[in-house]
Amino acid sequence: LDNGLARTPTMGWLHWERFMCNTNCDADPDNCISERLYMMMADVMAAEGWREAGYQYVCIDDCWMSKSRDAGGRLQADPRRFPGGIKKLADYVHSKGLKLGIYADVGTSTCAGYPGSLAHYDTDAQTFAEWEVDLLKFDGCSMDTTLLEEGYVNMSKALNRTGRPILYSCEWPLYEWPSQKPNYNTIAETCNQWRNFADAYDSWSSVKSILDWTATHQDIIVPSAGPGGWNDPDMLVIGNFGLSRDQQESQMALWAIMAAPLLMSNDLRSICRHSKELLQNRHIIAISQDELGKQGYRTVDHFEVWERPLSQGWLAIAVLNALEIGGPRRFSLKAAPGWKTCTPLCNITQILPQYEEVGVQIGHQVSVNPSGTALLVIMPINDLLF
Ligand code: DGJ
Repeated sequence: LDNGLARTPTMGWLHWERFMCNTNCDADPDNCISERLYMMMADVMAAEGWREAGYQYVCIDDCWMSKSRDAGGRLQADPRRFPGGIKKLADYVHSKGLKLGIYADVGTSTCAGYPGSLAHYDTDAQTFAEWEVDLLKFDGCSMDTTLLEEGYVNMSKALNRTGRPILYSCEWPLYEWPSQKPNYNTIAETCNQWRNFADAYDSWSSVKSILDWTATHQDIIVPSAGPGGWNDPDMLVIGNFGLSRDQQESQMALWAIMAAPLLMSNDLRSICRHSKELLQNRHIIAISQDELGKQGYRTVDHFEVWERPLSQGWLAIAVLNALEIGGPRRFSLKAAPGWKTCTPLCNITQILPQYEEVGVQIGHQVSVNPSGTALLVIMPINDLLF
């Protein structure tokens, strides 16, 4: 979507995977969906290097609303959990140098049963703009699939009419796939990012299934990604419970290769040092945010080799050891299709599993743990000479 936003993949935090629809603030005041949760996350994001690393958006997902609209037909936040209202929350988040994201649904109700936006697109877009919200995640529950395109396009226009730049995050293709092949040209003209596949869970099988779906559909989806519009493989679950250290590195490396939005869903108040360093790894973030804006793709199976063309003729290569048995296995970079750009040499920087300036080599072997990933950037030697 050519609205000046998301020129590189969106970075931020989104509540859903970690906090879901926890509305019980009496029993669980620190983890329920309330203004406190976003304020606390914003505090941590500003204080602990997240904002400087590039994580900018603090995003609300489902379950923030009151069960009914107000007398004027406008959406309203649950008054007990958001006593200050969304405008005040946006002011707070902005005061921390961050942006606020909100959530609504294209159909008659959200997936969790709160009011949907169908027949209220202009009102809701206007409300979000008045609240000074910066991003809208627009879910696709409770909607006739034949009307998805019309609904998502109309909301895009309604947001545009408000005059406020609001990053538009869609789930249109995810809900359309079961009935028809989505039209990715229209989607990319309408949305700044779009979900294609199932929700990310806190498990390696979930992350793996997202990678498999993406790889098997890459010929359809990769060409549509670029500055202003990105395929969204869903949240980063790094820093939670279900991924080993190797698997966390794999998610981070592959999300960077896929030019995916980096929306963390975790508890930044208690995240361990290791996950934090990984999420803030500036070398991986540099690949994610590369200005060429091309999405990477899988090139080899089993030892899965994913490549992403970067600016300056450089290439990011992620080597995922998909064999979930045994110990570390060695892979020779010469077997990566992208190695042919080395003429005949490449300068190699290894980013994962540990940072190493390998230097100019005619080849390089990496050792990769089961379900782990080695992430490298190769620079054809010509670039070094001129
Ligand atoms: C389905 C979406 O895919 C999830 O990311 C989340 O927004 C839930 N709905 C909320 O109900």
